[in-house]
Amino acid sequence: AGTLWEAAQRTGRYFGTAVAANKLSDSTYVGILNREFNSVTAENEMKIDALEPQQGQFNYGNADRIVNHAIQQGMDIRGHTLAWHSQQPQWMQNMSGSALRQAMLNHVTQVATHYRGRIHSWDVVNEAFADGSSGARRDSNLQRTGNDWIEAAFRAARAADPGAKLCYNDYNTDDWSHAKTQAVYRMVQDFKSRGVPIDCVGFQAHFNSASPVPSNYHTTLQNFADLGVDVQITELDIEGSGSSQADNYRGVTQACLAVARCTGITVWGIRDSDSWRASGTPLLFDNSGGKKAAYHAVLEVL
Ligand code: XIL
Repeated sequence: AGTLWEAAQRTGRYFGTAVAANKLSDSTYVGILNREFNSVTAENEMKIDALEPQQGQFNYGNADRIVNHAIQQGMDIRGHTLAWHSQQPQWMQNMSGSALRQAMLNHVTQVATHYRGRIHSWDVVNEAFADGSSGARRDSNLQRTGNDWIEAAFRAARAADPGAKLCYNDYNTDDWSHAKTQAVYRMVQDFKSRGVPIDCVGFQAHFNSASPVPSNYHTTLQNFADLGVDVQITELDIEGSGSSQADNYRGVTQACLAVARCTGITVWGIRDSDSWRASGTPLLFDNSGGKKAAYHAVLEVL
């Protein structure tokens, strides 16, 4: 197997990475991107603050640079993200109630319409559940517009782009015994039973010593898939180095491969120096673009 995407494609899956528009002029970065990956997620450029900096004024410049690059290279695009409590523009942070609900739905409709036909999967809603043992929704301005805000966002996304797979995306939902995992599971089960349009669940998979790869990861992915949705690993990074990091990457890859409906893996950046993490070496390529042990471990099992 020559490259990550070729190996993944032979199993019917994609292998993706987060991309930053301002790195598309870095030839080392673009060389690895084009060689190893066949799916991209904009790291920040499709977030609400980037696309609608002033209410009703949309700025697609940086996002379109990533989208155009992906299309030229024949890569899939994961859209990230239409509705989220974080990285909201100031005007949205200041809103509440029905005005906020309407503004959120308008954002979903406008952005999904702009990219209609070009997005493989949309993270329609990101990180809507609370951490800890409550299993509750995360408190946010969006949540305070009413508990049905998530399904309203999914319905608006489906109406705007019927061809895109619509995902719910979150973190700390990897361990099957975790209350947050169970709460997301029950929401997806409820959506499926009531015909709310949902096609996939994204597992961010940001792992470190405080939040390690759970031994029951395969169980979690399989249980969600059994609800009738695809599952995707959407923002994978794992702190560490050497063979222990490689073992963790291998385990996550094998967990996905063992689930027929686990349709792809996206790592959250290319080189360690591209990572959003303030410290550590969580990615598959070193700062010079060299392949790490973790890279070889993933490629070997794909
Ligand atoms: C991160 C980006 O990588 C950073 O550049 C940015 O400063 C903050 O957001 N969960 C998500 C991603 O869904 O959008 C986040 O990306 C990482 C955590």
